[in-house]
Amino acid sequence: MAAVETERIGRVCAAICLLSVCSLCRGHTQDRQVLIELNPGSPSPPPGDLLHARAVGDNDTLHFLFCSQGAPTLLLVHTNTSFSTVKVNWTQFNNRTHSGGLTVEPESSILYSTAVVFNRLLEYDDVNDTADPTSDLFPPYDLQDFRWSRLNLSGLTALLCGNTAASSNGSLCLQLSLFETEGRGQHWPRLLHTANSSQLRVWLDGVLPRATRSRFLLELQSVGGASPLSRVEVHRSIDDEFTPSIFKVSQWTSALNNSSDVLGFVQWKPVAYRQADPALEDAAPCRHSEPRPQSGEAVAAVSGLIRAFYKEPEATGLNVSFGLAGDPFYNSTKFLSWTLLVGVGSPPVDSFSPLVIGMMAVGLGTPMILLLLGGICVCTRKRAVATAYEPIN
Ligand SMILES: *[C@@H]1O[C@H](CO)[C@@H](O)[C@H](O)[C@H]1NC(C)=O
Ligand SMILES: *[C@@H]1O[C@H](CO)[C@@H](O)[C@H](O)[C@H]1NC(C)=O
Ligand SMILES: *[C@@H]1O[C@H](CO)[C@@H](O)[C@H](O)[C@H]1NC(C)=O
Ligand SMILES: *[C@@H]1O[C@H](CO)[C@@H](O)[C@H](O)[C@H]1NC(C)=O
Ligand SMILES: *[C@@H]1O[C@H](CO)[C@@H](O)[C@H](O)[C@H]1NC(C)=O
Ligand SMILES: *[C@@H]1O[C@H](CO)[C@@H](O)[C@H](O)[C@H]1NC(C)=O
Ligand SMILES: *[C@@H]1O[C@H](CO)[C@@H](O)[C@H](O)[C@H]1NC(C)=O
Ligand SMILES: *[C@@H]1O[C@H](CO)[C@@H](O)[C@H](O)[C@H]1NC(C)=O
Repeated sequence: MAAVETERIGRVCAAICLLSVCSLCRGHTQDRQVLIELNPGSPSPPPGDLLHARAVGDNDTLHFLFCSQGAPTLLLVHTNTSFSTVKVNWTQFNNRTHSGGLTVEPESSILYSTAVVFNRLLEYDDVNDTADPTSDLFPPYDLQDFRWSRLNLSGLTALLCGNTAASSNGSLCLQLSLFETEGRGQHWPRLLHTANSSQLRVWLDGVLPRATRSRFLLELQSVGGASPLSRVEVHRSIDDEFTPSIFKVSQWTSALNNSSDVLGFVQWKPVAYRQADPALEDAAPCRHSEPRPQSGEAVAAVSGLIRAFYKEPEATGLNVSFGLAGDPFYNSTKFLSWTLLVGVGSPPVDSFSPLVIGMMAVGLGTPMILLLLGGICVCTRKRAVATAYEPIN
């Protein structure tokens, strides 16, 4: 009887815990106001679209620029005023020969900038199923040579798809999502985002493999004025609630000398999916190579946005490979999707969700309360027995 009662009390406590945690999470107001424009000020449609999103905060602005002139590129510029603007000199921008085609004004308001260039798609024939991407490489697909579609805007997302004659009817797509508040993606890996970040989902759909046992790699480059992203850290977590079976998150960050202040980041979970609407068995683990310095001039030559914005770009690059030894080959579904977050400041950190906290409260709380009540019971009984014998004395 008492046990049933205390168990009920435990449940009520857990419910109260859960409710208070929930109320803490709720009530998020807009952190930034996001306004999107396409090809700002261009007299005619340029050879590749340029998206500009202004994400205005209280005292600062984040400019997101996404462009398909050359290799697809996302550029973030953080300024310390809410009235900074982007100016494009379209003749110069489309020429792609000199820097200065795109400027952020006033220049003195720029706090930080970082860019990610999607440079190449690599394919290799994994004859022995070792998932070692250094041998049997096919000629790479240079993404600057793809025929890119116009940008398809819908709300705060933009979709870009492209292909080459060589890749046949399949396509490589990039979907950019911008955010006004903190939240979590709807689809796996359900990355946590803030208004200081944007999400890119990259997928390959129907590109014909050049071998039955083909696997793919994506080569990314990070560009910055002074401090490009230089190191990748892998953090572990004990909670896989949002990305089933994945207990790691990788963060490619910039570090100013040896200070711990992170200025910008690219974050991802080391998993890709072999279906658009994946089940658990469609997860393909990913690996990354160590970031290596790249020629800034070479990166500016492949990306119109890097050429236009940076005078002296500094760049690093890394490869992300999809699938480990023993995993099904690309040919099994001819589909592969991978998601990353690009932002300024510190990367979002996954914390325990209210559900997990509630479960821990019930799991740990109930026995504790039982012990406590048991202890009190025993004490009061002893006292009662003791007092019962006192009169004899
Ligand atoms: C923005 O700047 C104003 C004036 O400098 C200051 O009063 C306000 O606290 C700042 N707001 C935030 C969120 O930093
Ligand atoms: C923005 O930064 C520039 C350069 O660092 C500085 O001169 C200016 O005072 C800053 N403005 C504000 C509002 O903090
Ligand atoms: C695959 O295995 C065979 C036999 O062990 C070996 O001769 C060949 O070099 C291997 N190929 C690769 C690409 O490792
Ligand atoms: C590409 O699509 C066209 C028309 O849909 C079709 O005729 C052609 O066979 C396809 N090519 C390949 C390589 O699948
Ligand atoms: C976003 O960046 C601004 C400016 O650096 C900072 O004040 C704010 O705390 C950041 N928000 C989050 C959720 O990281
Ligand atoms: C892909 O797999 C199918 C059977 O599942 C096979 O017929 C086809 O030849 C394979 N494609 C390549 C490029 O090997
Ligand atoms: C790194 O940190 C140490 C101590 O914090 C400092 O003495 C040193 O100058 C720093 N080095 C650089 C390159 O900032
Ligand atoms: C990516 O992998 C390819 C093939 O192994 C290699 O040639 C290239 O240098 C790698 N890129 C980077 C940035 O490490």
